[in-house]
Amino acid sequence: MTDLIAGISDNNVIGYNNDLPWRGFVPRDLPHFKEQTKDHDLIMGKITWLSIGSKPLPGRYCIIVSTTLDQVEDENYIIVPTFEYAYHIAKQRRKDISIIGGSRLWKEAIESNCIDRLLITRIHGEFTGDAYFPIDIASEDKYYCVYKTKWKEISPNFSCTFELWLKKITYP
Ligand SMILES: NC(=O)c1ccc[n+]([C@@H]2O[C@H](COP(=O)([O-])OP(=O)(O)OC[C@H]3O[C@@H](n4cnc5c(N)ncnc54)[C@H](OP(=O)(O)O)[C@@H]3O)[C@@H](O)[C@H]2O)c1
Repeated sequence: MTDLIAGISDNNVIGYNNDLPWRGFVPRDLPHFKEQTKDHDLIMGKITWLSIGSKPLPGRYCIIVSTTLDQVEDENYIIVPTFEYAYHIAKQRRKDISIIGGSRLWKEAIESNCIDRLLITRIHGEFTGDAYFPIDIASEDKYYCVYKTKWKEISPNFSCTFELWLKKITYP
């Protein structure tokens, strides 16, 4: 199974200054991320990798896509130059995969039709950003929303909605 997991503000922001604009204000977000990516292999872009301190997250093999970082291969992570290569490695490892950002990787993953589920946290608010979610999921006609729940009581400073989207199955 291949997941895309993202937090997106009402104005489509995902990041600012190599960080999450709402860091510290959505207490449930980190435990949710850890739970949903537990035992998965993670695919991410260079800036996302730098934003987590260039260290693999515990228990999760990381595949980083970058054309400018040295192509390192470690027992806990690997750096490769293309999304295609990253996804090929992840498939060979036969674990569930989470594509955790950023923008260009998500776009490429959606275009290649490899995403089975999208786990989206909508952060209700407008934020200054320099990185944005690349598509309007609802207008893509590839996925349908099967679950939606408010996180209001857990995030008193912001209200959030968690959405689970699944790939539409097309029959011949
Ligand atoms: N809200 C969320 O859920 C979420 C999730 C993740 C990150 N973020 C935030 O979003 C920001 C980072 O996202 P971003 O979109 O700006 O950057 P990013 O995808 O993390 O990193 C971009 C870099 O990764 C490499 N890359 C990405 N896709 C590639 C591809 N298909 N082929 C080759 N190289 C590729 C390139 O590095 P080279 O220049 O080395 O080739 C590119 O410059 C940060 O602020 C972070 O905190 C938010």
